[in-house]
Amino acid sequence: MHDFKYKNKQLYCEAVNISNIAKKVATPFYLYSYNTLLGHFRKLQKAFSPIKPLICYSMKANSNLSICRTLVKAGSGLDIVSGGELYKALLVGCDPKKIVYASVGKTEEEIRQAIAKQILFFNVESLPELELINKVACDLGVIASVALRINPDVEPKTHSYITTGKLTNKFGIDFDTAYGILQNRGKLSHVQFNGLHMHIGSQIIDSQPYVLALRRIVGFIERLRKEAIRIEYLNIGGGLGIIYSEEKPQTADEFAKKVLPILKNTGLKVILEPGRFIVGNAGILVAKILYVKKTPLKNFVIVDAGMNDLIRPSLYGAYHEILPLEYKTQNAKRLPAGKAGNAQYDVVGPICESGDFFAKDRILPKVIEGEFLAIMSAGAYGFSMASNYNCRLRPMEIMVKGNKFYTVRKRDSYVDLVRKDVILEFLK
Ligand code: LLP
Repeated sequence: MHDFKYKNKQLYCEAVNISNIAKKVATPFYLYSYNTLLGHFRKLQKAFSPIKPLICYSMKANSNLSICRTLVKAGSGLDIVSGGELYKALLVGCDPKKIVYASVGKTEEEIRQAIAKQILFFNVESLPELELINKVACDLGVIASVALRINPDVEPKTHSYITTGKLTNKFGIDFDTAYGILQNRGKLSHVQFNGLHMHIGSQIIDSQPYVLALRRIVGFIERLRKEAIRIEYLNIGGGLGIIYSEEKPQTADEFAKKVLPILKNTGLKVILEPGRFIVGNAGILVAKILYVKKTPLKNFVIVDAGMNDLIRPSLYGAYHEILPLEYKTQNAKRLPAGKAGNAQYDVVGPICESGDFFAKDRILPKVIEGEFLAIMSAGAYGFSMASNYNCRLRPMEIMVKGNKFYTVRKRDSYVDLVRKDVILEFLK
């Protein structure tokens, strides 16, 4: 599943002992495994090989240039949601014909840039957006390619913040509205309807909601075909769940087995846009224990990473496994609370909010100040959601390949913190 494993009670990433990195560079830092990253991309590619889909890695999960470049070199396209992601996608050499662009709030300028670069298509989320794309394309004297993002109204059984395919969500267009738009497509002279798109949510561990949504969409496409409305592409989105804790998400093969029968023989060109599945388990966040603080009710492990570095536990109550980089005690196996060698901790950061935690009441091997902890499965929506809150420096990012490690992003500096600020003349 991933290349973070213990050897002689030391946590390794591929062939590198992570403690050796932690002793050399400032913590906290993100650490990515090249092999795991590529491995997950290839697993998906292989599982779907009968229909040879275009996989467009969803950059929002982690847009580090080396991560994106690794995937682009392996043949991946990119799913983007902003002008910034378009900029980075082009910087890593992604063929614009492998770029798809979603977002409910594309600005006119962003639309203009993407049309100028001739991306594969926009995943259009509303009629006003479609009209704006048509206008911008008309101004530029070109035809813009679009796919309508359908909101199939299914329940993906995930956190409500990352549920996107229900009609109460802001995303996509319902079937009836989409049908109306396609019937009246003649009115929009500068867009070409290339496909349909869906993305029903994130961290979905079961294939059933996909099956339901896909059946609805494929049925819709058949109806359109009868009316000579041609749909070339079907973008089935991302959202595949990964293991954080006890969950048993579908594997790439299991997922493919369920959805391929619906997609095969449709003649559609299929696009997938996974983020988390590819990068989630390929990254960890390494932090140092600053203090172990005992209060009458709790044991707090205070680490040097905070919610600004990894916000998922604070924002979604997300579970991330926490492992010591070294087992110093005899207790290489996890023992129940109260047994020798283990204790119950809240693992928290230094930020001035009680929501700044990585784990609550977690059983860990007894830890001491100065030890390092690995916060697992932090490759997706970790660094990409990091901030400078509390004027903290966003962490360094490191990639391991084989027995070597490389910096793929430097840690922020204090100068970075103030680079864009202005002290007004009259205040000087
Ligand atoms: N396509 C679209 C249109 C999306 O909105 C997303 C994610 C993806 C693809 C990729 O989804 P994935 O395969 O990574 O599940 N910050 C949250 C996740 C937000 C997902 C947003 N959209 C988290 O940390 O759980």
